[in-house]
Amino acid sequence: MSSSGSDPSVVLADEPLPTSNGFHYCGGKREVVLGRNLHTSCLSVTEPEANDDATGDMDAYMAGVLARYRNTLVDRTQHHLGYPYNLDFDYGALAQLQHFSINNLGDPFIESNYGVHSRQFEVGVLDWFAHLWEIEKNDYWGYITNCGTEGNLHGILVGREVFPDGILYASRESHYSVFKAARMYRMDCIKVGTHVSGEIDCTDLKARLLANKDKPAILNVNIGTTVKGAVDDLDLVIQTLEECGFPRDRFYIHCDGALFGLMMPFVKRAPKVSFKKPIGSVSVSGHKFVGCPMPCGVQITRMQHINALSRNVEYLASRDATIMGSRNGHAPIFLWYTLNRKGYKGFQKEVQKCIRNAHYLKDRLRDAGISAMLNELSSTVVFERPMDEEFVRRWQLACEGNIAHVVVMPNVTIKKLDDFLNELIEKRSTWFANGKLTPPCVAGEVGRESCLCSQHKG
Ligand SMILES: Cc1ncc(COP(=O)(O)O)c(C=O)c1O
Repeated sequence: MSSSGSDPSVVLADEPLPTSNGFHYCGGKREVVLGRNLHTSCLSVTEPEANDDATGDMDAYMAGVLARYRNTLVDRTQHHLGYPYNLDFDYGALAQLQHFSINNLGDPFIESNYGVHSRQFEVGVLDWFAHLWEIEKNDYWGYITNCGTEGNLHGILVGREVFPDGILYASRESHYSVFKAARMYRMDCIKVGTHVSGEIDCTDLKARLLANKDKPAILNVNIGTTVKGAVDDLDLVIQTLEECGFPRDRFYIHCDGALFGLMMPFVKRAPKVSFKKPIGSVSVSGHKFVGCPMPCGVQITRMQHINALSRNVEYLASRDATIMGSRNGHAPIFLWYTLNRKGYKGFQKEVQKCIRNAHYLKDRLRDAGISAMLNELSSTVVFERPMDEEFVRRWQLACEGNIAHVVVMPNVTIKKLDDFLNELIEKRSTWFANGKLTPPCVAGEVGRESCLCSQHKG
């Protein structure tokens, strides 16, 4: 349910989804399957014995723990398909920097008194993104964030500072961090309906804007939704605002491009995210398509907006306009390194490979009689949720309701997809062997044409 009318409020209740075989639903409300409780398997801290330095027992114990953990990481990396992380990178050349506590606290463009920083890399990376999204060096402000979520928190905060009484509009398929921002900032928030592709429904947006014309609009536009990889039509959103009588000084658009914001510029004939359009900010995650050993992201906004948010801080000798205080100074160096190594052409090749492999996966799923959907422009393949949570965990799939997805990233090869498919097909033959269980209907989630349940398989 979304709020509407002239008294909007944040409505976050789980929306009822179409019922399936019943195993993921409880009393009409979706039952969320949570992961295991880590307290049963955590590594407790063992205080050192007085003579540990002499015996070396502690060193041996810790070396063993770390070696076993490394093996787990190798295995888990090999069997990962569900989250949008490129796990293929080699940052060996940067290992020499791990001995330094690199911290870019404060504003990227104003040096602080703390000298162990990497602002020279950070600003170089920001300039690259500013060029990608078509904004002049003197007109933008930005920073390397801790993740895409921080980018959303920042972009929406800038929107709220520009329009303190603005209403936040976001499609119901937006990332949960957008609704978290609304809660944190106590903003009125309206969830807008979506098409079956996951794209924002601009007819619904129009109705909601018209019902709230007295308040400025702050919009979150998805450049790739989390679950279905749908791209909201930015141009249509802008047109809808204009048709509803919102002039440019009555709206603010934040583009959430966590994953696809960095892939779309390299897709032929894809729509463009550009500051030549009336947008206020764009954010992406750095550890997703680019690949990085630590979570990070990039946030770019207009210089004119940031002044409303920033304060000079004497203790830093810099300016405070970021969400966090201390900021990871290693992350900009990792991003800088990859941008230099791969460049525009390298990313373009990788995007093409991801989209090709995603089509391969979708076609093979459907050939095997498994419901599957792949949005144009996307490398996120949505398909019927596997019946067995053990299988879901083995391949680290992300699930929602009756659907799961695989996000095809540069490290996902045809061989890995074949291994996954062969296992899935074999498992399905056991899940559905005696006819007690049947493949779930996913028409409500991905449309009838993508659903191959017994009712819809033509
Ligand atoms: C559309 C979208 N926005 C924001 C995020 C949050 O990004 P992060 O995990 O880097 O915080 C995600 C994560 O998957 C996402 O898909």
